[in-house]
Amino acid sequence: MEGEIRMSNVLLIGTHWGDEGKGKIVDVLSENAQGCVRFQGGHNAGHTLVINDVKTILHLIPSGILRNNVKSIIGNGVVISLEALQTEIKDLMKNKISVENKLFISQSCHVILPTHVALDIAREKSLGKSSIGTTGRGIGPTYEDKVARRGIRIIDFFDTNILKKKLSISMEYHNFLLKKYYHADTLSIDDTFDKLLPIFENIKHHVCDVVPLILDLNKNSNIIFEGAQGTMLDIDHGTYPYVTSSNTTLSGFISGTGIGVDKAHYSLGITKAYSTRVGHGPFPSELHDQLGLDIAKWGGEVGATTGRARRCGWLDLKILKQSIELNRINGIALTKLDVLDNLEKIKICIDYDPINYENFKASNIQYIEMDGWMTSTVGITNFNDLPNNAKEYISTIEKISGTKVVMISTGPSRHQIIILEDIFKHQ
Ligand code: GDP
Ligand code: IMO
Ligand code: MG
Repeated sequence: MEGEIRMSNVLLIGTHWGDEGKGKIVDVLSENAQGCVRFQGGHNAGHTLVINDVKTILHLIPSGILRNNVKSIIGNGVVISLEALQTEIKDLMKNKISVENKLFISQSCHVILPTHVALDIAREKSLGKSSIGTTGRGIGPTYEDKVARRGIRIIDFFDTNILKKKLSISMEYHNFLLKKYYHADTLSIDDTFDKLLPIFENIKHHVCDVVPLILDLNKNSNIIFEGAQGTMLDIDHGTYPYVTSSNTTLSGFISGTGIGVDKAHYSLGITKAYSTRVGHGPFPSELHDQLGLDIAKWGGEVGATTGRARRCGWLDLKILKQSIELNRINGIALTKLDVLDNLEKIKICIDYDPINYENFKASNIQYIEMDGWMTSTVGITNFNDLPNNAKEYISTIEKISGTKVVMISTGPSRHQIIILEDIFKHQ
């Protein structure tokens, strides 16, 4: 498989509430890709890659950046914090990874301003107990401004007069809300201009119209479209209002790149062997006992962006089935199988009554219970080496979801992976 160019593209989507291990799978696939494209979200994402025991967490830059032969592209649907981008580029450089001639940013990306961050934080505070549990990165307010047609795009930074004017209009409105509605501190428009412009000057050579670039790559390359967050955090199809502010599903790929849906030849769902959620909102199969805490410990379930503890529970197959429909998923990459190694019994959630949004609880939750395998699967690369009960667990997921498991991840590192199908062969 190595080095072979088959010219096909993979759309990679988290099937639950994010943190399914998307970064790791993108890293594995990018060995055979020449392009990697982010199309929604912002630096609320945290995608972890582990290569030779070195951990890299990417928030904004596509996970293909660690490969020299991969063009990393940020599509128009992504919201950009210039400060976060600068920090991420510097961190990569410290690890001797250059972004020069490898990173391309759509000129149409909306920019996260310091007032968006302040509004995000002030709003969460004012919501008190009903807060969303956002990452506090200003994601929601930036997408709001985009839809309200008062957003500032990267292209606006090329003309300082336009930028000054737009920044004033936008920030005066934000400051009014901060002061009068949230009784919070306001921010200086001049200081913001003085802070953001030099960062833009440093990164502006990465900014372009990325659509022709993606279409050109599409002619003779394999491209990975790297989703952020997960299906249940989708603004339209997720557990609203406990969602993020972008379309994390297939539709986000279409609007966030500007290329046709026919360019995603294979849709790969990234599914964790159990479910997690960070932030507030319904989670029907959540474990509220010691076992939930144990799984969190074994799985290192600490938020890659905010450092918050992730809530853990059994794999929710009702959601997986919904995700498969929504995202036209062709195959599943099942991650973190090794985290379940110690369990005597494993449950899979198969159904429940619709979530009651008054108390956020699901009722009549149904599980099937299976025997665990009680032996280490860490680092297994050959399917036949998996214990029988692990194989049974995987085939149960396949049977109920009606979808093939094509990759199985058995550890955080690049090489801890079982590949059952070359998904780049699909055209
Ligand atoms: P993403 O947001 O979907 O990219 O996922 P995150 O990086 O936020 O969280 C996944 C976490 O699980 C990271 O710490 C990864 O290093 C780790 N990870 C990924 N795959 C595996 C796996 O198969 N086994 C184990 N034990 N850890 C994994
Ligand atoms: P990756 O790409 C997990 C969650 C937040 C919160 C909700 C809204 O690493 O899977 P936001 O700041 O986006 O307005 O927060 O969405 N959230 C994520 N949860 N993984 C992510 O990204 C997330 N990005 C946002 O915790 O519940
Ligand atoms: Mg993450």
